[in-house]
Amino acid sequence: MPLKWNPATVVRKTIWAPGLFTIRVHAPGVLPFEPGQFLQVGFPFPEKHIHRPYSVASPHSDYLDFFIVLVESGEVTPHFWKVKVGDQVDVSEKGAGSFTLSHAPESRDIWLMATGTGIAPYIAMLRDGDIWNKYQQVVLVHGVRFPADLAYQLELEELQHRFEGRFSYVGVASRMPSKMEGHSNRILSGRITDCFTSLALEQETGIAITPQYSTVMLCGNPAMLDEMEQLLSQRGLHRHRPKNPGQVVVERYW
Ligand SMILES: Cc1cc2nc3c(=O)[nH]c(=O)nc-3n(C[C@H](O)[C@H](O)[C@H](O)COP(=O)(O)OP(=O)(O)OC[C@H]3O[C@@H](n4cnc5c(N)ncnc54)[C@H](O)[C@@H]3O)c2cc1C
Ligand SMILES: NC(=O)c1ccc[n+]([C@@H]2O[C@H](COP(=O)([O-])OP(=O)(O)OC[C@H]3O[C@@H](n4cnc5c(N)ncnc54)[C@H](OP(=O)(O)O)[C@@H]3O)[C@@H](O)[C@H]2O)c1
Repeated sequence: MPLKWNPATVVRKTIWAPGLFTIRVHAPGVLPFEPGQFLQVGFPFPEKHIHRPYSVASPHSDYLDFFIVLVESGEVTPHFWKVKVGDQVDVSEKGAGSFTLSHAPESRDIWLMATGTGIAPYIAMLRDGDIWNKYQQVVLVHGVRFPADLAYQLELEELQHRFEGRFSYVGVASRMPSKMEGHSNRILSGRITDCFTSLALEQETGIAITPQYSTVMLCGNPAMLDEMEQLLSQRGLHRHRPKNPGQVVVERYW
């Protein structure tokens, strides 16, 4: 079925770091979708329609957020990087994908692990209420190259206050020499995979990752997904499938 496009107006552009940004669009024609799902977003150029899938970084409403990184050699993101408030983009009508809480197993705790823009679906889930009804403890782990790439800091700090004792946030920066104090949230040094292996994630949060108590969602860089899935399997956590229940749910961005 061909995609049905809705013209959407850019109403806000937040630049977190050079090339790393969120656009908010007014797109009242988009049908209800679940937090964690993606839409196709792009440009109706006369010669060709160009578009890519993007996780929506907000729950369903007339206003939708997309958290995007500029891939300099990419076809579509250089156009997104140039958009200004008032410009139009095309957004597909129907959400897609099963990276949602309704496809995640029940458990006591949920770990939301992302690299780069892979945090987008989690921002949608955290803004929506359901995650707090389904899980007692929510842990968000965001792995980036540089501390400046840790977007959504103020919103996440506010959530930590609001859900104190139930929400932990851990920023992890791979290109930083050592733990950086003085930042409003503490940041671990290394890759998410290193911080898992060294037990730093569990020490930082005081929460153990176990097959009995944990659901783990993974999103972002495919090499991270593969390595984390392998490391988690050594601890007895496996991919969740409807006919073969497990603990791990995965979204690949490329
Ligand atoms: C389900 C799904 C959801 C997605 N959600 C998002 C999102 O919320 N935000 C987002 O920025 N991208 C997201 N992507 C990736 C997005 O669809 C595009 O691939 C990306 O924006 C690059 O498009 P491009 O045309 O500029 O590059 P292309 O010409 O398509 O080049 C693709 C190459 O860019 C690199 N790349 C692609 N995406 C990323 C990324 N997010 N971070 C780092 N490197 C990347 C990879 O090396 C990939 O091979 C998602 C992809 C999928 C499948
Ligand atoms: N501010 C920005 O983020 C920004 C701005 C403009 C353009 N870009 C461009 O956007 C593209 C993507 O950059 P990105 O930083 O968003 O995404 P990325 O390259 O996927 O890196 C995000 C994080 O994932 C880590 N990672 C990579 N492979 C991993 C693995 N196998 N296991 C565990 N962790 C792994 C990286 O660690 P390592 O550091 O060790 O690789 C980094 O901490 C690049 O082309 C970049 O130049 C980024």
